[in-house]
Amino acid sequence: MSHVVHHHIRHYLPYWPYAAIPLGVYGLSKLLSWLIPGPKRQSSLNLKDKTVLITGASTGLGRALAFEFYKRGAKVIVTARSLDKLSQLCAELEAAKAEFGWANNHEPVYRYLDLTELGDEVSAKQQIDDLKTLAIDGKTIDVLVNNAGMSMRGSCADTPLKIQRQVMEVNYFGHVLVTKLLLDSIPDNGAIVVVGSLQGKVAIPYRSAYSASKHAIQAFFDSLRAEDRPNLQILTISAGYINTGFGSRALNTEGRQMGVEDENQTKGLSVEYAASTIVKALICRETELLMAPFMLRIAIGLRYFCPNFLFWMLHKRGQNDPHQSSKKDH
Ligand SMILES: NC(=O)c1ccc[n+]([C@@H]2O[C@H](COP(=O)([O-])OP(=O)(O)OC[C@H]3O[C@@H](n4cnc5c(N)ncnc54)[C@H](OP(=O)(O)O)[C@@H]3O)[C@@H](O)[C@H]2O)c1
Repeated sequence: MSHVVHHHIRHYLPYWPYAAIPLGVYGLSKLLSWLIPGPKRQSSLNLKDKTVLITGASTGLGRALAFEFYKRGAKVIVTARSLDKLSQLCAELEAAKAEFGWANNHEPVYRYLDLTELGDEVSAKQQIDDLKTLAIDGKTIDVLVNNAGMSMRGSCADTPLKIQRQVMEVNYFGHVLVTKLLLDSIPDNGAIVVVGSLQGKVAIPYRSAYSASKHAIQAFFDSLRAEDRPNLQILTISAGYINTGFGSRALNTEGRQMGVEDENQTKGLSVEYAASTIVKALICRETELLMAPFMLRIAIGLRYFCPNFLFWMLHKRGQNDPHQSSKKDH
């Protein structure tokens, strides 16, 4: 037996540097994030009796997040444009509390919020101030979840500027404005969650507006976290596919919803799993969460170390995409 063990050790010993280097880099990055001052040093976030405001909570991930926060005793303020769905969500939250005996003394509340209608700081102020009055103490939003979003399908050449702007309005400017107007109401031990995407790290073909908006939102919050409140927790989520029907609501080049879901989307994470993973990361004071299969994570590394190879692979993948350009190379 010991002979076999010795043989294995002798056999694998020359390869130890190959394992030691990545393990060392990983260990060092963990050690540094623990040593460096910032949100990681804060005690874990207790959501009981905290106010959580979620944008885009009428369906999908926002809706699933509302259950996760409510289950943990938070007062949830859910917003979106579909008031019927929000009202139904609040009723379901109360029913789940009764059924599962969740310890929560707060009634969930909902409000209409269209991120494309807000305008600027002046025109949006009243609507955002009204949301604050729904907080437990009438003024503090402990956790802001910037989740609302939309997508598009179509080539760079075919997608009209109107759609490029519409996607940026929801996925970028809307969140920037809501965050600006709420920033002073978020305490130092509170948090901001930003639902970005893996496409905020690597852009893919035929999703230009969406990828651009997710790059933009990641950049905005990276700037914010490095400004004058470095201890405020900002958790950016880079998610791969989640099975929410998101693709079927994406706009085509005519501005109409696709109506059918992409195959990739249906094979994505379950929305309940995604929501629970996000809230656990939030509680642990994480600042970045990558929720994607290993092969998609590799793309992020390739983007920096071997970009041309990645672009070639994405081009090959794009050749099977049903949303290819009508104006092909000549
Ligand atoms: N599903 C995925 O594969 C995936 C992957 C990575 C990241 N994400 C991100 O996850 C977030 C949630 O997406 P989801 O998958 O849960 O899709 P979803 O079910 O379509 O949810 C999108 C939410 O955004 C709201 N919304 C859309 N336009 C809005 C507007 N103009 N103003 C305010 N709210 C608006 C929608 O509500 P109303 O229509 O009622 O307003 C809905 O509640 C998005 O930011 C998305 O980019 C999704």
